Amino acid sequence: MVQQNRITAETKLLGLIGHPVNHSLSPVFQNAALNALKLDYVYLAFDISADNLINAVCTLRTWRLKGINVTVPHKEKIIQWLDRLDDTALLLGAVNVVVLNDEELVGYNTDGIGFAKALDFNQVDLNGKNIALLGAGGAARAVLSVLIERGIHKVTVYNRSLERSLQFQQWVKNSFTTEVEIDSWESFINGQSSFLNQVDVLINATRLGLNREFIEVPWNNVENSEWIIDVVYHREETPLVREARKKGKKAFDGKIMLLYQGAESFRLFTGHEAPIEVMERALNEALR
Ligand SMILES: NC(=O)c1ccc[n+]([C@@H]2O[C@H](COP(=O)([O-])OP(=O)(O)OC[C@H]3O[C@@H](n4cnc5c(N)ncnc54)[C@H](OP(=O)(O)O)[C@@H]3O)[C@@H](O)[C@H]2O)c1
Repeated sequence: MVQQNRITAETKLLGLIGHPVNHSLSPVFQNAALNALKLDYVYLAFDISADNLINAVCTLRTWRLKGINVTVPHKEKIIQWLDRLDDTALLLGAVNVVVLNDEELVGYNTDGIGFAKALDFNQVDLNGKNIALLGAGGAARAVLSVLIERGIHKVTVYNRSLERSLQFQQWVKNSFTTEVEIDSWESFINGQSSFLNQVDVLINATRLGLNREFIEVPWNNVENSEWIIDVVYHREETPLVREARKKGKKAFDGKIMLLYQGAESFRLFTGHEAPIEVMERALNEALR
């Protein structure tokens, strides 16, 4: 909880912008970390609609804001109003952290760091593995960059809209030498893609699960898959993780990714290493 009595006229503001944000657990663990290190900041969540994004960004300098996290649906759109991007945000074309530096708005992306830490935390070795990646949005880009870093053998991306699939394909072509296959969502859910039988790890980077939606996984076709990974998180297990565990698969959701992308955001905002145990404890308490 935020300790109200430590807020003074000097207190600096950090925040999260997105739409919706009411499910977010970032304020809980970011404020716990700020309190633990006795830093004079407070972290709040702001529900900003797409129409209001430009106004929100233009007024960041007006308020005593030191930085913001950015979540769906603004991660790509916000870039046009920033002064500079770091190399990772530039590569991914998506931003989840904005820091205000001497009047300059600098965009970063810490989702890949979060995903990589979640793999390490769960001891998932991706070297030489075949991956099915669901989704072609910002999270999928962050995940794919980590998959390539980790030396996977082959990845096929399954996405619903053709438009985003084509954008993703172009982005891959411009950014990596590794070959990435793109296939349709129907090909995945109907189990028509022959690659599915060779998949070692299935990763969901779509929004499905955020509102407890089920993903129609063709379980018979992915029976060789050892790991099922969901970047979506919820207070409870996501439907995908629950179903995967019932099928006897190893599975985890996006909570650890969330925690570590948040820890890296904290470092960028404050210049201090995040007290990760404090953040994890706050997150777990909020989830109970
Ligand atoms: N754990 C973490 O730290 C973390 C970090 C980042 C993101 N996330 C989560 O990852 C998810 C995706 O985020 P994002 O930034 O990538 O969002 P995004 O850029 O808006 O992309 C959304 C993706 O979901 C797909 N999708 C949406 N509704 C679908 C449906 N009904 N059926 C099939 N596919 C559907 C979209 O496909 P179309 O092209 O067909 O629209 C697109 O590929 C969100 O739930 C977010 O909370 C978690």
